[in-house]
Amino acid sequence: MSARFRVALSGDFRKADGSPVYPDFDLEPLRQAQGVEFAFLDNANPLRAEQLADFDALILLAHRFAAESIHPNGRLAVVARFGVGYDTVDVEACTKAGIALVITPDGVRRPVAVSIITLLLALTGKLMVKDRLTREGPLGFARRGDHMGVGLIGRTFASIGIGNIGAELFRLLKPFDMKLIAHDPYADQGLAADLGVELVNLEDVFRRGDVVSVSCPLNSETRHLVNAERLALMKPTAYLINTARGPIVDQKALTAVLQQGRIAGAGLDVLEQEPPDPNDPILKLDNVIFAPHALCWTDQCFAGNGAADVRAVLDVQHGREPRLVVNKAVLATSAWKNRMAEYRKRFGE
Ligand SMILES: NC(=O)c1ccc[n+]([C@@H]2O[C@H](COP(=O)([O-])OP(=O)(O)OC[C@H]3O[C@@H](n4cnc5c(N)ncnc54)[C@H](O)[C@@H]3O)[C@@H](O)[C@H]2O)c1
Repeated sequence: MSARFRVALSGDFRKADGSPVYPDFDLEPLRQAQGVEFAFLDNANPLRAEQLADFDALILLAHRFAAESIHPNGRLAVVARFGVGYDTVDVEACTKAGIALVITPDGVRRPVAVSIITLLLALTGKLMVKDRLTREGPLGFARRGDHMGVGLIGRTFASIGIGNIGAELFRLLKPFDMKLIAHDPYADQGLAADLGVELVNLEDVFRRGDVVSVSCPLNSETRHLVNAERLALMKPTAYLINTARGPIVDQKALTAVLQQGRIAGAGLDVLEQEPPDPNDPILKLDNVIFAPHALCWTDQCFAGNGAADVRAVLDVQHGREPRLVVNKAVLATSAWKNRMAEYRKRFGE
């Protein structure tokens, strides 16, 4: 085994010309760290085991980390996702192989919550249509009365999920004087009460929400959770916002209700297929505001994710348990404990 603690970064952190995709991801702390060296992988999706044979840690952007990405030599100790969604990672395979999966909720919490507020205000304030009217000059001004916005006081904001992002969103919504409701089968009831959020069943989210926003993970339980039947419960004046993952919403069903004007509109940072087919009928609708899975992308978001991943990787180098491990069961395995003891011996605590 190399004397150094070797960190791989997935190839999608670099552009074709080798420059960084996210210059705000500061690699200096890795460069400066004693006993550490890092390298970018070639692009491969999913990542291949042989690419990772000589690494202790992986910082992973969007490429998939599957069972076949795990090298049998057992060297890789940690996969640090750059973000919080981990539907691209085979978590069970990681646990079986004694690999910890960590995520970066501190980096995305505020930026994604702000992107939901951005969509809320743009939709209810009719920002996009008013922008278009203004560009038309006198003809547009003459039609401005046809596009009344929706005031928020006393209206109901409904979230599917009150986790890291959902809770932050409710914190930021406080001064808007909206009614706050959420559905989350695993909610922290005390947290919801502290935030003034009423926990309700799933159907009530759709029935009662003037704005329904999705902030839960994508998994087998939540795929197409927003389906035709539930969309049919929404008020004709209500808006749907999805900044979580595209496949949580049945996009064909959503397109149909939007085409028929059965809800007022939608704000979508994520789509079922990314990037979308330019001929996808949803892209033709003017009651939808889109972003290319990038509305939360800010300098602070990337700096925060990068700093959290580097911290997690350096924790592992020194045999310390990283914060924010997804597959906590791994921490009790002898494979993990032996590795941590070995790292402490080599690099000090
Ligand atoms: N658009 C983006 O760029 C972007 C960025 C970051 C995160 N995300 C997405 O946002 C999602 C939420 O992130 P987070 O950090 O808040 O995660 P989190 O795990 O902290 O919170 C998710 C919440 O959803 C709840 N939940 C699980 N199953 C549910 C169900 N069936 N119905 C309702 N709620 C359910 C969980 O109990 C949890 O409270 C992520 O999984 C990710 O997919 C998107």
